[in-house]
Amino acid sequence: MKYSSQKVAYWFFATCMLLFGLQIIYGFIMGFAHMGMDGLHPIIPFNVARAVHTNLLVMWLLAGFMGAAYFIVPDECEREIIWPKLAYVQLISFVTVGVVAIVGYHFFWWEGRKFLEIPRPLDYLVVVNVLLFVANIGLTIWKSKRHTTTSLVLFFGLLTAALLYLPGMISTDNQTMDSYWRWWVVHLWVEGVWELIMGAILSFLLIKLTGVDREVIEKWLYIIVGFTFLSGILGTGHHYYYIGTPRYWLIIGGLFSALEPLAFLGMAIYAIAMAKKGGRSHPNQTALSWTIGCSVMSFVGAGFLGFAHTLPQVNMYTHGTLVTAMHGHMAFWGAYAMLILAIITYAMPLLTGRNLFTRQSATFAFWTSNIGMTAMTVAFGIAGVAQVYLERRMGLDFLQVQKEIEVHFLGLVLAAVLFTAGIVAFIYNFIGYGFPSNESLKKYSGDVS
Ligand code: HEM
Ligand code: HEM
Ligand SMILES: [Fe+2]
Repeated sequence: MKYSSQKVAYWFFATCMLLFGLQIIYGFIMGFAHMGMDGLHPIIPFNVARAVHTNLLVMWLLAGFMGAAYFIVPDECEREIIWPKLAYVQLISFVTVGVVAIVGYHFFWWEGRKFLEIPRPLDYLVVVNVLLFVANIGLTIWKSKRHTTTSLVLFFGLLTAALLYLPGMISTDNQTMDSYWRWWVVHLWVEGVWELIMGAILSFLLIKLTGVDREVIEKWLYIIVGFTFLSGILGTGHHYYYIGTPRYWLIIGGLFSALEPLAFLGMAIYAIAMAKKGGRSHPNQTALSWTIGCSVMSFVGAGFLGFAHTLPQVNMYTHGTLVTAMHGHMAFWGAYAMLILAIITYAMPLLTGRNLFTRQSATFAFWTSNIGMTAMTVAFGIAGVAQVYLERRMGLDFLQVQKEIEVHFLGLVLAAVLFTAGIVAFIYNFIGYGFPSNESLKKYSGDVS
C-alpha cells in the first residue's frame, strides 16, 4: 500500500466476506428446499430465499468493485483519494440500504422483479450512494496528473454501471416493457459495462503480478473493450426472443450474442499469455492463480455455457429453467466473484503488511471452491436438462417435474458443501490478515509489486 486512503478498501472487502457468507446460507436453504426438505418455508419461503440470495450476490460484488476502485485508483493515479471520509460514509449508507432491503424482503416489501427487487424508495438511495462513489473516484482521477488506460476504463465501467441502473426504474404497467427495461440493467451490466470493470481490474493485476509492460497489457484491454461493445449491446436481444418484443430480435439477439464469448475468450488468452510472458517471479502466486482462474472460469461459465443456450432454437426450450441457473452460477462465479477474490488476495498483504498467501489454506481455498463450483454447475446442468426434457418435451406439469428431479439436488448440496469449505478457508485467511496498518505503508512504499 502506498497511500493511506487505500485502507478504506479493506472495509469494503470485509463487507464482501460477510455478505458472501450470508449469500451461501440462503443458497443452502434453496438447495434443501429443492430436495423436498422445505421446513423453513413458513418463515423463509423459496421466493424470499431466492431474492435474498441473488441480491446479496449483487451487493457483495458491488462492494467488491468499490473496494477494488478505492485500492487501485490511488495506485494508478499516484495520489490519495480526494474524500476518504466520504468513502466510509458511503460504505455505511450502502450497507444500511442493503440490510433494510434484505430484511424488507422477508416481509414481502419488494418489487418482485428478478434481481431488481429493491423497493422504489430504496432505489433512490442506491442512486445517490453510487453517484457519491463515482464522484469520489472520478475527481480523484481528474485531479491526478497520471491518467492510465486502466484507471479510465475502470472509471467508465463504474460510471456507466451507475447510469444503467436508471432504466430499471422506468415505471410501466406493461409486463413486456417492464421486462424490456429490466434487461437493460441485468444484461447490460454483466455482459456490457461490468466487463469493462473486469478488464480494468484484470489489467491492473496482470501489470502488477506478471511485470509485463503496461503498454502491452493495455493494448489488449482496448481490444477486449471493443469486442465487448460490438457483441454485448445488441446481444441483449437474446432476452427478447419470447417476451412479447418484435420478431427481429430473434435474428439480432441470436447473431450478436453468439459473438459474446469472443470477449471472454480474449480475456482468457490475454491473462494466460501475459502470465507466460512475464514469468512467475512475483511472490504472491495465489493472487496470480485467482487472476488466471477468473479469466478461464469466466470463459467457461459466461462464454461457453452462455453460448449453450443463446440461440433462439435452444432457448425456446431452456428459457427460465435450471439450465439458466447452471450458467448463472458459473458465469457469476468465474467472471465476478473470482475477480473480487483475486483483487482481495493481491491487496491484503499490501494493506496489512502480512504475507499469508503462502499458507496451505490459501491454496486449498482456491482449488476447493473451484472444484466445488464446477461440481455444482454439473449438478444444476443435469437437473436442468432433465427438467427441459420432462417439462418441455414430454409436457409434464412443472411441479411434477420438480418432484422428479429432487434427487439431483442431493448432488448439488454435496458439491455446495465442498465449495463452501473453500470459501470458509478464504474467509479464515482474510480474518487472519487482521486490520490494515500504517506500518504496511512504510513497508511497501516504493514497492512495485
Ligand atoms: C459474466 C457474464 C455473464 C453473467 C454473470 C451471466 C449471468 C446470467 C444470469 C444470472 C442469467 C439469468 C438472468 C435472469 O433470468 O434474470 C442469465 C441469462 C442468460 N444468459 Fe448469461 N451471463 C453472462 C454472460 C452470458 C453470455 C456471454 C451469454 C451468451 C453467449 C449469455 C447467455 C444468456 C442467455 C441466453 C440467458 C437467458 C436464459 C433464459 O432464457 O432463461 N450469458 N445470465
Ligand atoms: C453453497 C452455495 C450455493 C447454493 C447451494 C446455491 C443454490 C442456488 C439455488 C438452489 C438457486 C435457485 C435455482 C432456482 O431458481 O431453482 C440459486 C440461484 C442463484 N444463485 Fe446460487 N447457490 C450457491 C452459491 C452461489 C454463488 C457462489 C453464486 C455466484 C457466484 C450464486 C449465484 C446464483 C444466481 C445468479 C442465481 C439465480 C440463477 C437464475 O437466475 O436462474 N449462487 N442458487
Ligand atoms: Fe444476456
